[in-house]
Amino acid sequence: MINQEEFFKKITSHAKEYGFVFPSSEIYDGLSAVYDYGQNGVELKNNIRQYWWKSMVQYHENIVGVDAAIFMHPTTWKASGHVDAFSDPLIDNKDSKKRYRADVLVEDFIAKIEGKIDKEVAKAQKRFGDAFDEAQFRATNQRVLDNQEKINAINKRFYKALDQNDLADVKLLIEELEIACPVSGSRNWTEVRHFNLMFSTKMGSTADGANEIFLRPETAQGIFVNYLNVQKTGRMKLPFGIAQTGKAFRNEIVARQFIFRMREFEQMEMQFFVRPGDEKQWYEYWKAERMNWMLSLGIPTEKFRFHAHEKLAHYANAAADIEFEFPFGFKELEGIHSRTDFDLGAHQKFSNKKLQYFDPDTNESYIPYVVETSIGLDRMFLAVLSYAYNEEKLEDGSERVVLKLPAVLAPYKAAILPLMKKDGLPEKAREILADLREDFMCHYEEKDAIGKRYRRHDAIGTPYCITIDHQSLEDNTVTMRERDSMQQERVKIDELAAIIRKKIKPVKV
Ligand code: GAP
Repeated sequence: MINQEEFFKKITSHAKEYGFVFPSSEIYDGLSAVYDYGQNGVELKNNIRQYWWKSMVQYHENIVGVDAAIFMHPTTWKASGHVDAFSDPLIDNKDSKKRYRADVLVEDFIAKIEGKIDKEVAKAQKRFGDAFDEAQFRATNQRVLDNQEKINAINKRFYKALDQNDLADVKLLIEELEIACPVSGSRNWTEVRHFNLMFSTKMGSTADGANEIFLRPETAQGIFVNYLNVQKTGRMKLPFGIAQTGKAFRNEIVARQFIFRMREFEQMEMQFFVRPGDEKQWYEYWKAERMNWMLSLGIPTEKFRFHAHEKLAHYANAAADIEFEFPFGFKELEGIHSRTDFDLGAHQKFSNKKLQYFDPDTNESYIPYVVETSIGLDRMFLAVLSYAYNEEKLEDGSERVVLKLPAVLAPYKAAILPLMKKDGLPEKAREILADLREDFMCHYEEKDAIGKRYRRHDAIGTPYCITIDHQSLEDNTVTMRERDSMQQERVKIDELAAIIRKKIKPVKV
């Protein structure tokens, strides 16, 4: 058994070796927490984006898309609260000179106590066997209760200090908990400070005339400022949604875990505008829809879980994350937030433009409420990749690495492989390629032995390898090898497209 860290390392090196993800500007030693997608990565990423867009825009009559600019008027970020409040509490260790997020230090400390609880539970489970009642044990065992109480007290104090912007108390808490720097081992900490996560740049040529503008830290605001444009020109009636995918930028302090937390990343967001009072019902609807979207890819349900936010942002009246079990544990993949009328209300105030909706059913004008779904495209990429990565021992004793990607997301749907480079087989193979590539990304390969070619396509997740041999010239059949089972079947060339089309259909949930 390899541990989680080794497994994660394998995924990152596989991603690089097979042209999925490269460190940015690698010839200059890379740029921290910035990555480039390679020839296979771009296909997988495009496919995830398209799968999302289809499910949100194409399959919903009342959702339309936009593509807003990355640069926005600077007041946007004042109104949204990002200028004043989009920051992390930071603390430096004076000996190692390393910088940490204070909340991450506290969370890691809590995780250690949770680990102790889990150990108690596992020990008791072993002792009592089948008769073990975990819920009862957690509710009655004194050591578990003491540790849980410790966690609750830390959480309460920490969130209160953050809410009241009492950074001195955050530092005091870190000292009282005796949290040490993982690098130097010392508890020699600086004060806690706020650090705004937005990147800024200058627009305009002269120093005096230039305006400071921000690279958007979320795509959502591009939707809010276009709410009225879309509602009026699209004659949209509530409830309706606006979807967008695009780049977002955050100067993350603790940028780690490969493409999980990047400084430049892509979001897929949808703002759903509803009548005030209806938001809780729509919040539940979108939670279920988004979970179904994940499951429609055939990834098992136990890899996902909901995590309701304990501490709500000031503008939200409900919020939950869909977490995925990444190689480093369950972590946020998507957020579903009931954002009330906070954003539109703030933009109305700051812009002095009415952003109200006239409801023909009630003859009233009001600012709609919003339920948001927000998923990181790169995080989804990592979720899919880490789920798909498999090392298998085969019956003949050999080994293979196979990416069991959902077929709809695979970079190539089929590899077209003439068995030999002669006797008219390449020509026949190219005929098949010309036909199939009208509808599917296909890859033509004639180099190396067929077994080697199969392995290469296993490693990038191609669901089907289609081999053209001498019999193909006689009866228009080919062998079709399925990636996961490695089963080979002789099929008619005419049937190939239909078989592939069936394979890439979403799973019904
Ligand atoms: N508009 C709401 C919003 O931006 P968020 O929870 O800050 O909410 C939404 O971000 C999603 O964007 C996250 O669930 C995550 O998937 C992705 N995301 C956020 N920061 C990221 C980062 N630094 N790198 C990669 N993905 C990120």
